[in-house]
Order: sequence, then C-alpha cells, then structure tokens
Amino acid sequence: MLRTYRTDDWNTYRMDWHNPFVELEPPEQEIAVVNGALQMLYVLGMLPHTQYDEARFQAMRRAVREQFEIPWTAITPRMQRLLYAINAITQPQNMIAAGVFCGNTFISNAGAGVGPGACYTAQNLIGVEIKPEEAERAERNVRRIDPTGVARIVAADAVDVAAEFTEPIHLLYLDADGDAKQGKGVYLDILEACYERIPKGGVVLAHNSVNCADRLKYYLEYVRDEANMMASVNMIFDVEGLEVSVK
Ligand SMILES: C[S@@+](CC[C@H](N)C(=O)[O-])C[C@H]1O[C@@H](n2cnc3c(N)ncnc32)[C@H](O)[C@@H]1O
Repeated sequence: MLRTYRTDDWNTYRMDWHNPFVELEPPEQEIAVVNGALQMLYVLGMLPHTQYDEARFQAMRRAVREQFEIPWTAITPRMQRLLYAINAITQPQNMIAAGVFCGNTFISNAGAGVGPGACYTAQNLIGVEIKPEEAERAERNVRRIDPTGVARIVAADAVDVAAEFTEPIHLLYLDADGDAKQGKGVYLDILEACYERIPKGGVVLAHNSVNCADRLKYYLEYVRDEANMMASVNMIFDVEGLEVSVK
C-alpha cells in the first residue's frame, strides 16, 4: 500500500550540498516536521513511541559539523534528524548502512549508538562503501567521534556484506547508487540478500524515495507489498525523500 507523509514545502526546502549545516528554517519548524513524521509511524504501529533526546541529537550534529570531512552531502537537516530519531527510538543492536560515501549518512544513523549523541549501547553498526578511498575517509571520520569500534566502515559491496552477515539485522539503511546500469535499483538486491535475517519489527530505510523513484520502482513495489513488510511510508519533506519500512 502506498502511504505518504508530505509537507507543503517539500519542493522548496532546499539545501546547499557543500554547506550541509546551514540552518534552513527555525529549529522549532524542523522539529515539528520530523515529529509529524514520527507520529505517523507511531500511529501505524511502526514505532513504539516518538521520544528522543534533543540535547544528544544536538551533540551528534555538533560533533559531525566540527570533526567530519564532508566534501558534499544531500542529507538535509530534516533528514539527519529523522534518521537519528528512528535509530534512537528503535535502538538497533545491529545496523548496516549501504553506500555511505564520506560517512555522513552513516553517522546520522549510528550517532544514536556511539559518540556524543549515543543514547544506547549497540553491538555492530556497520557502514559499507564500495570505493576504498571513500571508505577510508568515512572510517577516519567515524573514528574521530567513536573510539570504541562499535561503529565501523567496511570497504566492500553491500550486497555481499548483507548476504554474509549471519546475525539479525535490526536496521538496514540503503543509499548505494550501484553501477551505471543499475543505479539505485541495487537497493532491492541488498534487501533480498538479507531479508530473512531482518526480524519482525526490523526497520528498513531507503534514501532517495522521491528523486530516484523511477530507479526504485521494483524496490518500492516490494516494500509496499504487505506480504513483505508490515507497513511502509514515503517521507516527502525534502526533494530526496526516505521510504521507511517495518517488517
Ligand atoms: C551517492 S552516495 C550516497 C550519498 C548520500 N546520500 C549523502 O548525501 O551523503 C552513494 C555511495 O554508494 C556507493 N556504492 C555504490 N554501489 C555500492 C555497493 N554495491 N555497495 C556499497 N557501496 C556502494 C558509492 O560509491 C557512493 O559512495
């Protein structure tokens, strides 16, 4: 079933990819937009509650702004907040993020479990990046705020990592852009490689559900089929979008 959470300004809320921490709106508006998204997930039974710690979130945002090398990113402040909140609320023991580039998307998720924004203790928070030089930069970035190694970056194909991870995957974040032929269509390959190890209640997040909807056609059909996922919602509050699915 197609479900959407849509703000009126989704198409005019625009960031500068090279200055990702510029404030785009009053803080209370950013919080309200994300709270609306969380509330919808809660009403649908996809989240147990909607509460997360604002001070910890701000500590994560500050640490990333001050310590990460980010050549560019399309993760808007709203998206960063929603990713952090979903992880803080669901507290995944094992999280895999596929296609993490410089690590900003990864830490938006993993920052709920490690570093100054941590609100729980995780087991494995794994970011996967196929380009070795990007994986190295992401690992350098992550090490600056997480000395523990719970959060770590692997230079590999996310399809292989998803297939070979033997433990339950409580949260899977998808952002890999595949090869020239497949593009973001690789999301479905990654999900199918580990679908059996995602427990009931496990969360799957897919970035670019709006601007890459054509390439994600088969992926979106799959997660919106209630034979595969309990429910799925397209979060349309920026031009990129995030499909949030719960098994
Ligand atoms: C476009 S970037 C994601 C950027 C992110 N949305 C942001 O705004 O910060 C996608 C990344 O996925 C990586 N990638 C592509 N195919 C992959 C695969 N099969 N496994 C792991 N990473 C992959 C690419 O090298 C690239 O760094």
